[in-house]
Amino acid sequence: MSATQATPSGTRQQAGPDMARLDSLVLQAVTDVGAALNGTLVLLGTDLGFWSAMSNCESISAAELALMCNVPEPYADQWLSAQAASGYVDTDPDQQTGPDQQTGSARFRLSPEQAMIFCDPDSPAYLAGGYHIVRSVYEDLPRIEQAMRNGRGFGWHEHDAELFLGTEQFFRPGYRAHLVDEWLPALNGVHEALTAGGRVADVGCGHGVSTTVMAQRYPASTFIGFDYHQGSLDRAAALAEEQGVTGNTAFARARADDYPGSDYDLICFFDCLHDMGDPVGALKHARSALAPDGTVMLVEPRAGDTLADNLNPVGRVFYAASTMICTPASLAQDVGAALGAQAGETRLRQAAETAGFTRFRCATETPVNMVLELRP
Ligand SMILES: C[S@@+](CC[C@H](N)C(=O)[O-])C[C@H]1O[C@@H](n2cnc3c(N)ncnc32)[C@H](O)[C@@H]1O
Repeated sequence: MSATQATPSGTRQQAGPDMARLDSLVLQAVTDVGAALNGTLVLLGTDLGFWSAMSNCESISAAELALMCNVPEPYADQWLSAQAASGYVDTDPDQQTGPDQQTGSARFRLSPEQAMIFCDPDSPAYLAGGYHIVRSVYEDLPRIEQAMRNGRGFGWHEHDAELFLGTEQFFRPGYRAHLVDEWLPALNGVHEALTAGGRVADVGCGHGVSTTVMAQRYPASTFIGFDYHQGSLDRAAALAEEQGVTGNTAFARARADDYPGSDYDLICFFDCLHDMGDPVGALKHARSALAPDGTVMLVEPRAGDTLADNLNPVGRVFYAASTMICTPASLAQDVGAALGAQAGETRLRQAAETAGFTRFRCATETPVNMVLELRP
């Protein structure tokens, strides 16, 4: 007999809960509450220097960590215990724990994999930056909830600044690992054009990590990043200075449907088209600003076409981010298409075709991103 039964009136009458399913769901929810709470501890680990202190030691006790980071020992003790329970640090099983304290003389260490995720911003697996995004959405929760109640959007620029920092840090490892070594070479003729010296627009560039990564690799080409958010552009300019690429980069405030220039060899959209109110309008503008044999590189979160395709951990992250960030951002702009961060290839292809592109293919993908090539 099924757990629910249809009554003659068509309403469904619930049978009692399946206890095994309930237990497993409770366990998942407890795990998730733990993850949500521990997000604050991951941020503390960055802000108070716990992660970097650990990465400089073979192993460490709570007392040593407290001393190194200049905090009372009970904080270090509880923080280490929570990370051990999360699987984010390892404990030394041979060490005794004291009877009257939580960790006693226990020693903790970071495995190389844990260090890559939490300590090294240059590692392709660095994820600690993503927690700044988490902090921003909790900070903005009351205002986003109010926007939803009022039936309005919530613009990218309205968010707490932690979102901009978190977005930079969350996407940076993927761009550094894949953009110039895999994504650009996967596009037809683009590597050759940029090596010879081409014109590139990076639309919705944010902090311009993608712009500077490309500018470093292709010194003969010129790169201009456009975004409507001035605060992000200021950071992009500072980053270009830091990276020594001011000679072939520029940043300008413009919307995706009104930036200047023509005959671009490459126009890029990195993880931003679905945030825009009018993705078709943005692609139409790109189509008109492109050189006759130019290319649009559309990088979007990896997603299948159906909900069922995306019911996995990556889909979960992006659907949640989409609810709190991308969908409100799109609804705050004209048209308000609200593509969502899991739009999938078919809907993106339809947008590209409506905008006048005749050639569309998925050039390559990673576990997180798909790289789509659009040509006139
Ligand atoms: C998720 S962030 C991605 C930033 C950057 N491309 C990256 O990958 O780090 C989305 C960016 O799109 C920008 N944006 C959203 N709508 C825009 C529009 N209509 N015109 C220009 N920029 C826009 C936002 O200001 C924000 O910087």
